[in-house]
Amino acid sequence: MSLSIDRRQWLKSSALVAASLALPRELVAAPALPQSPHPRDQKGIVKLNSNENPYGISEKARAAIVEAADFTHYYPHPAYPELVELIARDNNLTSDHIMLGAGSTELLCIAGFRFGAQGGKVLMADPSYFDAHDFYVRVGTDLQLVPLNESFEHDLDAIDRRLTADFDHVYICNPNNPTATVVDSMALRAFCEEASRRTMVFIDEAYHDLALDPYDSMVDLVRDGANVIIFRTFSKIHGLAGARVGYAMAKPEIIEQIEEMGTNFAPISNLSLRAAIASYQDTEFLEMCTARNHEARPELYATLERLGYFYVPSHTNFVLFRIRRDRREVQQEFRDRNVMLRTFTINDAPWIRVSMGTAEQMQAFAGALEAIAP
Ligand SMILES: Cc1ncc(COP(=O)(O)O)c(C=O)c1O
Repeated sequence: MSLSIDRRQWLKSSALVAASLALPRELVAAPALPQSPHPRDQKGIVKLNSNENPYGISEKARAAIVEAADFTHYYPHPAYPELVELIARDNNLTSDHIMLGAGSTELLCIAGFRFGAQGGKVLMADPSYFDAHDFYVRVGTDLQLVPLNESFEHDLDAIDRRLTADFDHVYICNPNNPTATVVDSMALRAFCEEASRRTMVFIDEAYHDLALDPYDSMVDLVRDGANVIIFRTFSKIHGLAGARVGYAMAKPEIIEQIEEMGTNFAPISNLSLRAAIASYQDTEFLEMCTARNHEARPELYATLERLGYFYVPSHTNFVLFRIRRDRREVQQEFRDRNVMLRTFTINDAPWIRVSMGTAEQMQAFAGALEAIAP
């Protein structure tokens, strides 16, 4: 019987094949083709548009991912406290000061919701981190913008003057994206101490590990119990942008309040957590990446100066410079030469933000810049 069924099935499928052969070509269902890779995944693409780590991930993180693959059938619970503990210890905090999230974006949004973003009033600098800006706009925040000063830095005096007690929170990005400027640490600390009595203060320290003096983290204010939330990420120096790991640091009462807004009991995969745990302890890799990043900066300045571009001195792994032509056309011209970068309109003028890449990538960028002459 089984033979006859097999035979019947075989016959049926053969008949279908024969029938399909008889169909006009356009009616035969085409086999699903693999999607063509995203430009960033193609070899030869010089990807300088998202301030990622051009040196990839630590070998220790890679080994941890491979090892963790065998445990993917388990929920990631043990890895959570392990990473929290590492971060807490490194920042002289206890683990109840730390919340992990799927990238700092998730935490910025959850904390944003918890502290009034939806329909509430928020203050931020302009220009500052565009994704934070977009989030506030999307959720209907009454968003008040305070222009950067003429050095493209946060104007803390102006922010302080505008920040009345009816604001739900203030968002400060330090180092600031897209200008790569930092705020004087003494001034920022004084501002935070005062402002956190009036409202919640968000400090986005995504570029903490790559920041150059006079940068200073505001994490000590968390230790002092101020109403300050620090956001950091594994997407930059750790090269784990695709793994999606970020963390927030705040006093335990605030962390509890943010956690109440979380929609997922375990938003980060075990693979990502294991990678982050390994990377966090791989000081050799982190130092190598930081050193190379710092080496690339003067070279980039020299190129920009030689070609006569005005740039904002950078305190982190990207540089903003002014161009003279339509930014979208210029962006496409770079793209045609396999160079991806980001453009902005700031004070009605077009600007490019270029991330620091490897020496070869920076050479390719310099060649394209010279040829395109934006
Ligand atoms: C200032 C700033 N904050 C947050 C993020 C987002 O980081 P994550 O990848 O952890 O969501 C970025 C990414 O570019 C950033 O520039």
